[in-house]
Amino acid sequence: MKHLVEAARQVRAHAHAPYSGFAVGAALATPSGIHVGCNVENVAYPEGSCAETGAIAAMVAAGERVIEAVAVWADSPEPIAPCGGCRQRLAEFAAPGVPVLLAGPHGVVETTLGALLPAAFGPGHLGRGR
Ligand code: THU
Repeated sequence: MKHLVEAARQVRAHAHAPYSGFAVGAALATPSGIHVGCNVENVAYPEGSCAETGAIAAMVAAGERVIEAVAVWADSPEPIAPCGGCRQRLAEFAAPGVPVLLAGPHGVVETTLGALLPAAFGPGHLGRGR
């Protein structure tokens, strides 16, 4: 888990966050290794993307679809957790028990995806056949 947190810390340095000034790094542990992403903002604000979204895209592009652990690093005094949209994106590839490490200069707070996204919308809710 130390490697995963360190990967999130390091990729944060590549964030493109000139509008918020809030750089974030994310790292995903998978069976094939660690995949990372950082937030990439845009002058058209809604077009920016979160670090977690970038890490998921890198993971899928590398041919991986199984998330075993997540680390998010921000240089904030309090731990920050993935936004609602990213929780749902993580749930596409991560089980509810998957650890999510909220890391920064304050240390590391460990939670799970299930705790962050209870009652998640999932494939079983699609209700096909009507
Ligand atoms: N952000 C992330 O990349 N991940 C999070 O978990 C929370 C927020 C980004 C989005 C935006 O670029 C900046 O942080 C401020 O919201």
